[in-house]
Amino acid sequence: MSTHTRVASTGSRADAPAAGARIGLTDAELGRPGAAVLHGVDLEAAPGEILTVVGPSGCGKSTLLRTLAGLLPALAGQVTQDGRPVTGPGADRALVFQEDALLPWRTARANVELPLAIRGLGRAERRARAKEWLDRVGLAGLERQLPHRLSGGQRQRVQLARALAGQPRAVLMDEPFGALDAQTRAGMQQLLVEVLRGTGATVLFVTHDVDEALFLGDRVALLADGGLTGIRQVPRPRDRAAHDDPATTALRRQVLDSLGTKVL
Ligand SMILES: Nc1ncnc2c1ncn2[C@@H]1O[C@H](COP(=O)(O)OP(=O)(O)OP(=O)(O)O)[C@@H](O)[C@H]1O
Ligand SMILES: [Mg+2]
Repeated sequence: MSTHTRVASTGSRADAPAAGARIGLTDAELGRPGAAVLHGVDLEAAPGEILTVVGPSGCGKSTLLRTLAGLLPALAGQVTQDGRPVTGPGADRALVFQEDALLPWRTARANVELPLAIRGLGRAERRARAKEWLDRVGLAGLERQLPHRLSGGQRQRVQLARALAGQPRAVLMDEPFGALDAQTRAGMQQLLVEVLRGTGATVLFVTHDVDEALFLGDRVALLADGGLTGIRQVPRPRDRAAHDDPATTALRRQVLDSLGTKVL
């Protein structure tokens, strides 16, 4: 499917500028030297797409994300961004982790400002941009709080603001809502959809939660022990009303089945 079709089909993101990166793996072997966990992975996320990744614990989801982030070299094959090899971390690829990755001694605002400072933005612009993003994620008035004074959901909002404030072309999210209760989690999914609107960023989103994968993703990549077992198109991305559709129900069953699948 063409990028144009995909962006148009997502409705809410149709107005997004073409800012997203095309990121991919070609015949890639991933893992640590002497301990490959994924073999022969061919995967490409199109600009502006949300590609969710599901798979059983330990199959290599975080390994895949860290490789795309440039934190872990591929053992074989290619890792590319817009056709160029990824050789290390880049400011245009932001990471959001499940674990709380905020610096505890810095306020919410100072945490959001940090990557902007590293990129050389002046103080006034940093402040303005951090405030704008903290407002957008619903944290107006909490800019000066230290992370330990914030709830788990609020800390994830700060992480999200920090990731997006740098105007990344790709956002790599590793079970970012995994530690949140179901209601907070649903709220964060909605917030993510809203804050991504208009950014055009390509998103890879790892989750254990099949419903989360089917709500957020344009497509769902299925990982199993050893490799990628398939990629499925989501019938109605980011539409809560699609939850009980026959097409969604059928896909949910396929994805759940795949979680028990082993690659031969
Ligand atoms: N730092 C490391 N050094 C060596 N092996 C590692 C390291 N991190 C992970 N592994 C191994 O690589 C494999 C894949 O781990 P990975 O963290 O990618 O799985 P995952 O799918 O993200 O699991 P989970 O759903 O539990 O987060 C596992 O067998 C794990 O033990
Ligand atoms: Mg993991």
